[in-house]
Amino acid sequence: EEINSTNNYIKANDNLKNGTIVIAEKQTAGKGRKGRIWKSPEKKGLYFSILLKENIPINSILKFSLIFPLAIKVSLENFTNHKVYIKWPNDIYIKNKKLGGILTETEIEAGEVNRLIVGIGININTTKEDLGKFKDIATSLYIEEKRIFNRKIVICKILENIEKYLSNFEKIDLKNSIEKSLLWKGEEIKVLNEDLKGILLGINEDGSLRLLSNNKEIKLYSGDISIRKA
Ligand code: BTN
Repeated sequence: EEINSTNNYIKANDNLKNGTIVIAEKQTAGKGRKGRIWKSPEKKGLYFSILLKENIPINSILKFSLIFPLAIKVSLENFTNHKVYIKWPNDIYIKNKKLGGILTETEIEAGEVNRLIVGIGININTTKEDLGKFKDIATSLYIEEKRIFNRKIVICKILENIEKYLSNFEKIDLKNSIEKSLLWKGEEIKVLNEDLKGILLGINEDGSLRLLSNNKEIKLYSGDISIRKA
């Protein structure tokens, strides 16, 4: 019913099995990327974390983690006629506003990811009042579609697709699928906190971002990077 953060719950509990999912109706200290908060009003959004203990090599973690925004995008398009976009590396956008985000945390041992915690937050029946000061940059399915959604149906669809993508990881053309829905593809973007601007070309096979800056192609890797439209 209520928890500080579903990611923190998994972090604090060593004994959880591979594939455990922790879902909360409300988070009192929901976390976003880069130390930001994630507003988690009661029974409005989906707030859940997935624990994976698959021993993923560190260098494939970026590519691997792209499964999640892709599965969410494909799932949410069952509930809206608007196109759902992926903002690299792992935000979900609709009509140029943020609909959801993913906070991936890793516990690394001997060059491999021992435990991967994928925390997913999606604004479903969240109102503008709930979003408060974020209302101009964030949105919800309810705000865009003007109807209330059954959150159980939405999360089931998402989990079904995540499971499907996880079990077919080697077979999916991740690059192509992500690029089809990549926010700002072909447009000029800037990298926050760095003196870097360029045209977003797409992604590489390893999941890194392709940026054309001063006639040179650059690869962006870090999951800590944030991009904005220039
Ligand atoms: C972001 O866009 O900055 C990532 C947001 C991630 C929010 C989810 S809600 C469930 C899980 N628990 C948390 O504390 N955060 C993630």
